[in-house]
Amino acid sequence: MNQQLIFTNHVAQKLDEIVAEIKPANVAVIVDSNVHDAVIPRMQEESETIRNATIVVVKPGEDHKTTDTLTEIWDKLTSAGVTRSSLLINMGGGVITDMGGFAASTFKRGIPFINIPTTLLGAIDASVGGKTGVNFNGLKNQIGAFAEAETVIVSSTFFKTLPDSELWSGYAEMIKHGLLASKTDFDSLLAYDLTDRNYDRMLTLMEQNVAVKSNIVAADPTEKGIRKALNLGHTAGHAFEELAMERHAPLSHGYAVIFGLLVELILSKNLLGFPETEVSRLAEYIKKHYGVFRITPDEYDRVIALMHQDKKNFTTDTINFTLLTDVGKTEINQTVSEDEIRRALDEYHELLK
Ligand SMILES: NC(=O)c1ccc[n+]([C@@H]2O[C@H](COP(=O)([O-])OP(=O)(O)OC[C@H]3O[C@@H](n4cnc5c(N)ncnc54)[C@H](O)[C@@H]3O)[C@@H](O)[C@H]2O)c1
Ligand SMILES: [Zn+2]
Repeated sequence: MNQQLIFTNHVAQKLDEIVAEIKPANVAVIVDSNVHDAVIPRMQEESETIRNATIVVVKPGEDHKTTDTLTEIWDKLTSAGVTRSSLLINMGGGVITDMGGFAASTFKRGIPFINIPTTLLGAIDASVGGKTGVNFNGLKNQIGAFAEAETVIVSSTFFKTLPDSELWSGYAEMIKHGLLASKTDFDSLLAYDLTDRNYDRMLTLMEQNVAVKSNIVAADPTEKGIRKALNLGHTAGHAFEELAMERHAPLSHGYAVIFGLLVELILSKNLLGFPETEVSRLAEYIKKHYGVFRITPDEYDRVIALMHQDKKNFTTDTINFTLLTDVGKTEINQTVSEDEIRRALDEYHELLK
């Protein structure tokens, strides 16, 4: 991975230093309207780069991660006179870094960009690793490209205006990294009190945690092999996310992932001998902090159909998962039968009762 990752709680100063080195012809910043209100006034006071930049504001949320919004961004970049000598800054959650990264990678065949994530999910996951894109025809991330930000500046100070539910959403991805890394990492994440909002402590924890992802991405940037480890929790998680959407009661990505992790740890236990005690610990933790996402047996067929649709599966008769033999021990490309999935969903249901 060529990406430079900077962890700091002095974002404005760091950004100005980096931009002074790059010396771009001009700078455009993409934000959504929430981030615009929560972050831009302070950043304009503190950072010369942001003060002098063209600010492109788009509508917030997953519903606007579309080709229509992309067209709007390309249009505004054109009006602002952005060229390949310019610099684009994506400041926001995963929606903005995904969409802004794709806008940058396609505009004039690619212009340099910096990500400044403002959500925990963005900081831990979306802004790092070079996957960019937008949703299309109801399919998540259907149009996209691998394009890495030159630099990612990660800071926990942005989280002061972030609702608790957004913090928990991002924390699900941290727990996923902990499960992939080691028992020590997993234990310390379950023991950490996220709600005390100690931003310095959070920054240190984030730095250790993002390293799990960046090391895996460095070994396999385009997901030919080991990068699939990062899909842990996501085959079931994406199916839950889509099921919730169909019920018109959307579940945010991280919440879908934490429930998906539980299903996939159950599969890991049943198929690969993953320790039952760790499955129970995660289930208890989820009940306490995330509540319960219920699915009934008459929805199993739909959940399985949604898993089949997941783009990560290569065959249609079995479903492909990343599973664990133990905490810190990953097995990619595990094909699982529909009966095993039904059995795991029964256990999931029991555990979250
Ligand atoms: N590229 C990847 O590798 C990758 C990985 C994981 C997720 N993702 C993508 O990330 C997206 C989800 O990311 P997200 O949860 O950050 O969503 P998001 O960008 O929609 O942000 C969540 C909400 O928080 C608001 N917000 C952002 N920063 C804020 C701040 N500092 N204060 C107050 N409000 C703020 C946003 O306006 C939005 O309403 C999904 O589209 C998902 O597909 C991408
Ligand atoms: Zn995820």
